[in-house]
Amino acid sequence: MADTNAKLTVNGEEYELPIIKGTLGRPVIDIAALQESGFWSYDPGFKVTAPVESKITYIDGGKGELLHRGYPIDELANNAEYLEVAYALLHGDLPTADQKADFFEKIREHTAVHDQLRKFFEGFRRDAHPMAIMVGVVGALSAFYHEDLDVSNEAHREITAIRLIAKMPTLAAMSYKYSQGEPFMYPRNDFNYAENFLYMMFATPADVDYEKNDVITRAMDKIFTLHADHEQNASTSTVRLAGSTGANPYACIAAGIAALWGPSHGGANEAVLEMLDEIGTVENVPEFMEKVKSREVKLMGFGHRVYKNFDPRAQVMKETCDEVLEALGINDPKLELAMALEKIALEDPFFIERNLYPNVDFYSGIILKAIGIPTSMFTVIFALARTSGWISHWLEMHSAPFKIGRPRQLYTGETRRDFVKVEDRK
Ligand code: CMC
Repeated sequence: MADTNAKLTVNGEEYELPIIKGTLGRPVIDIAALQESGFWSYDPGFKVTAPVESKITYIDGGKGELLHRGYPIDELANNAEYLEVAYALLHGDLPTADQKADFFEKIREHTAVHDQLRKFFEGFRRDAHPMAIMVGVVGALSAFYHEDLDVSNEAHREITAIRLIAKMPTLAAMSYKYSQGEPFMYPRNDFNYAENFLYMMFATPADVDYEKNDVITRAMDKIFTLHADHEQNASTSTVRLAGSTGANPYACIAAGIAALWGPSHGGANEAVLEMLDEIGTVENVPEFMEKVKSREVKLMGFGHRVYKNFDPRAQVMKETCDEVLEALGINDPKLELAMALEKIALEDPFFIERNLYPNVDFYSGIILKAIGIPTSMFTVIFALARTSGWISHWLEMHSAPFKIGRPRQLYTGETRRDFVKVEDRK
């Protein structure tokens, strides 16, 4: 609601810019009036720009607070299942017992993928990165559901959200199985969401007595919850921008997966393990830290654009990390190295002065490594979990009128010049 105006004077002209307050957080200045001023706003990296209004997730980076639909992330991660959190992201509230049963059943009904989709996998090299496969196969889902792709139809939008959340674990596990040369495992609908994913990853058809592990299942479910949504991050903004053109939701989520892949975003958990490989042993940590300080390399898994005191997801993840390492009795030198790195970084003034704390990807990388997930699958798991957030934002956008996203630019190229024939060019 706008209750007062800011004033901006440019070239002697005064513009009234409404100040709009949300329910929490910084108010925003509506700069639409700049349209008449002859100026654009300039904000590389969108550091101070809110391009949307949203009711899904709230972050207070200073306080280290993350709320989904108002519920604190640690309470959700410690008490709710990922699919309940997905329901809340989609629908606004945590489900009642009946709503939960109904939603879980709908997800179970849609875990399988069309058998023809296997052929897409076979088109990839065995050594293809699973994120490359995910970008392709998730986008390709749009070719299987022509009849439900009217983005203006609420029922079509809803079934698409269910299909995407239900099929992501199946597709993610298939991308891993393909890389291993192992047969794909069909989903088991007597397993819960995290169990089913682990089963499709690690069981084989010959494995008649596959055993679940409750500590690992719970840790995986928490990893899903802690990655479910994070307001207008790069991949979610990408999903919204693609969606603003009216593009189909599978294509929009594929765009989100592509944006997530980068090492500054979801690719960081994979980059953490690559960094540990590069460092090698604890003795090499001081030398590596010198490289970080001279800006030769970044300490992957540290720092965040929004959280400047601590990442509340990282706190829950650290506890889970300790539980998993203890339960599995793991004694891996790479995990010891990670812990040494964490300790040194938390005590070093370079990191303290710049508010660089371990982020969620630092610990999730370590947990995933401990439970035997290959490094190349880390970002795929992030994408699987973030799908509920992406599709919730896409649905929110489609639930009200919206405009195509079309930013402007500060042009610094050549000014107008005449065409020169090739023979006369110098
Ligand atoms: N290692 C070393 N120095 C760093 C790091 C790092 N990981 N991150 C930031 N800095 C330094 C940076 O060089 C700058 O120093 P100075 O002021 O002396 O030039 C200062 O800290 C401020 O950094 P910034 O680049 O302005 O911060 P940003 O908000 O633009 O970047 C970030 C945020 C997450 C991209 C960055 O911290 C980073 O690249 N971290 C490593 C990658 C990573 O772990 N990403 C996962 C983020 S959490 C998952 C997700 O939400 O996607």
